Amino acid sequence: MEEYNKKFYEMTPAERLAQLAEQTSLDQSALDALSGADGLNLAQADHMIENVVGTYALPMGVAQHFLINGREVPVPMVIEEPSVVAAASFMARLARAGGGFTASATAPEMIGQMQVLDVPDLQQAKAALEAQREGLLAEANQIDPLLLKLGGGARDLQVRLIEKSPIGPFLVLHLIMDVRDAMGANAINTALERLAPQVERISGGRVLLRILSNLADRRLARAQCRIPEEALAFNNYTGAEVRDRIIEAWAFAAADPYRAATHNKGIMNGVDAVVIATGNDWRAVEAGAHAYAARSGRYTSLSTWSKGEDGSLLGSLEMPMAVGIVGGATRVHKGAAAAIQLMGVKTAAELAEVIVSVGLAQNLGALRALATEGIQRGHMALHARQVAIAAGAPEDMVAAVSEQMINEGKIHIQRALEIIESWRAK
Ligand code: MEV
Repeated sequence: MEEYNKKFYEMTPAERLAQLAEQTSLDQSALDALSGADGLNLAQADHMIENVVGTYALPMGVAQHFLINGREVPVPMVIEEPSVVAAASFMARLARAGGGFTASATAPEMIGQMQVLDVPDLQQAKAALEAQREGLLAEANQIDPLLLKLGGGARDLQVRLIEKSPIGPFLVLHLIMDVRDAMGANAINTALERLAPQVERISGGRVLLRILSNLADRRLARAQCRIPEEALAFNNYTGAEVRDRIIEAWAFAAADPYRAATHNKGIMNGVDAVVIATGNDWRAVEAGAHAYAARSGRYTSLSTWSKGEDGSLLGSLEMPMAVGIVGGATRVHKGAAAAIQLMGVKTAAELAEVIVSVGLAQNLGALRALATEGIQRGHMALHARQVAIAAGAPEDMVAAVSEQMINEGKIHIQRALEIIESWRAK
């Protein structure tokens, strides 16, 4: 890495790819997929969804400095918002001072739900279903022998009584399945549809919905980090000040849902960017995150920040993480497959650990900025660049045009056009 004088963020996209090629085992086709030169083609897109007319591109950045469970991880992030990749990289660098991120994931257990209506005797049906638990699990396990071979399969069956609803009481059956390295929606939904006729026979009721729950609270990912006090100091702020302000900012989110929604959105800036880069279902992860944040009955922060005994800042994040590395777009989309390869993750659990670490880093970046100089300063530089580009500044002028707009405090297209014009006239 030393032979490169430039920092990663100072390089051109081609130089960054060349560096990644040196640092990782990515072959040319994976690099082409990451760069978009050979990402998703029209024929593949036409097989993915319906009524396809084209593809839609977003920037793919690679966050730097992530040390997760002692391993260096270049993190692919697909996102339209400026500052997110820079903040993640910067915070990952701060976290290194305390050993990086420590992350873990529970077993990849997903929950499927079956809504059982018109049950003649709810308590009796509940008991009957519970008594047939083993038989139902065995039936579910006949569907996918490969999943069983890989160590996954149906794990549990729970029956819940919903006492009050707009249509009166009914039963809900939860099927818990270990889906290994898949996101698991297909495995769960197939198993539920297979079991429904038996559940109707046993309960005497009528099965209506058979669908996965996105509140994947048995498939959690956790990340922690410790930032030494001295690493937090910058400009005129001491490390202790920055630490205490971050904790105060977090307390706001812990206590108030209006703030918690924005705080968690900042976490999801990092989470979603990696989820999207790897071809995973970000709506599922979003739904799980926010439902989990409201699990106590009051919507709150997904993360916690506190002061360690040695004065360091301690952060932790726990959230559902229903992501896979097999099946769906993760394999069909070459860019997604290359993103997974870039991180060197071998299991869905490892991917979940990376994602939750990035979420925690992103949260730290937002709180650190908000609780000190505000986020507009950093945003403005990138915003000015975008305005300069939108005004048609040639590549070699973009930096100078944006700098002049920032210095003048006038960041808008009209001013950019005037600056470009005046320079052209010279
Ligand atoms: C902006 O995309 C995200 C933030 O609003 C997050 C936060 O307020 O914590 C900066």
